[in-house]
Amino acid sequence: MRVDRCLCEDKPFAMLLAVARREGLDLGGLAEREGCGTHCGWCVAYLRRGLRTGESSFGELLPKESLDGA
Ligand code: FES
Repeated sequence: MRVDRCLCEDKPFAMLLAVARREGLDLGGLAEREGCGTHCGWCVAYLRRGLRTGESSFGELLPKESLDGA
């Protein structure tokens, strides 16, 4: 199973990362604009890594992180 989207918003990471790149958003700005990470928070670690590396599909489970980095 690959992890490739915010399930709560049903938005693929590829689309979310494209929005972040186009609009110069960091994780907090992307969450505010698209809602990703603001519900269960499961996707936060994936989005944080994706913003750093460009990855939009993950084959591993990442530990849950909060939007403020804790
Ligand atoms: S999966 Fe993104 S907030 Fe729940």
